[in-house]
Amino acid sequence: MLSVPAGEASKSFAELERLLDRMLEFGLERGSQLLALGGGVVGDLAGFASAIALRGIDYLQLPTSLLAQFDSSVGGKTAVNMRAGKNLVGAFHQPRLVLADIDTLKTLPERERRAGLCRGGEARGDLRPRFLRLARAPRRLGDRRRRRRADRRDRA
Ligand SMILES: NC(=O)c1ccc[n+]([C@@H]2O[C@H](COP(=O)([O-])OP(=O)(O)OC[C@H]3O[C@@H](n4cnc5c(N)ncnc54)[C@H](O)[C@@H]3O)[C@@H](O)[C@H]2O)c1
Repeated sequence: MLSVPAGEASKSFAELERLLDRMLEFGLERGSQLLALGGGVVGDLAGFASAIALRGIDYLQLPTSLLAQFDSSVGGKTAVNMRAGKNLVGAFHQPRLVLADIDTLKTLPERERRAGLCRGGEARGDLRPRFLRLARAPRRLGDRRRRRRADRRDRA
């Protein structure tokens, strides 16, 4: 298992090189598969690493953040950031499989949950008041009763 420090700073050439070096040390072959377990940062970085390692190996997306589960893990866009801006160098490289286990969202920090919800609303062009209330409300994924109660409180 290769881990990268949490945060956007890990989507860098330095981290990409470190990852590729470790993959080669582990005896990477054309038939190897890379499993990207984490949020969008891990998915983008691991996706790009697998696009260029040995001129392309297979990878699987195992997204653990809300944003990664509905957005960044699908579509095959991979990238690292440059000084000039985010996602400026990368490749289109489709994962062989995207496997999203929503149970992983239980440990997601509140801030990330809200960021994912807002991104979801933005993508759908859906920033109606009810949606924004949901994004601002405390964690209650999968708990409709508490959600309705919080909605009533918001309306009062
Ligand atoms: N490739 C695409 O199509 C695409 C689309 C949208 C966004 N993105 C990229 O995705 C990145 C943002 O992704 P993100 O919002 O997932 O951020 P992230 O990967 O930085 O994850 C946010 C934080 O949550 C933590 N985390 C992730 N899953 C967790 C879990 N289950 N429990 C506890 N902590 C967890 C991470 O360690 C990190 O600290 C950006 O770099 C953005 O450019 C890519």
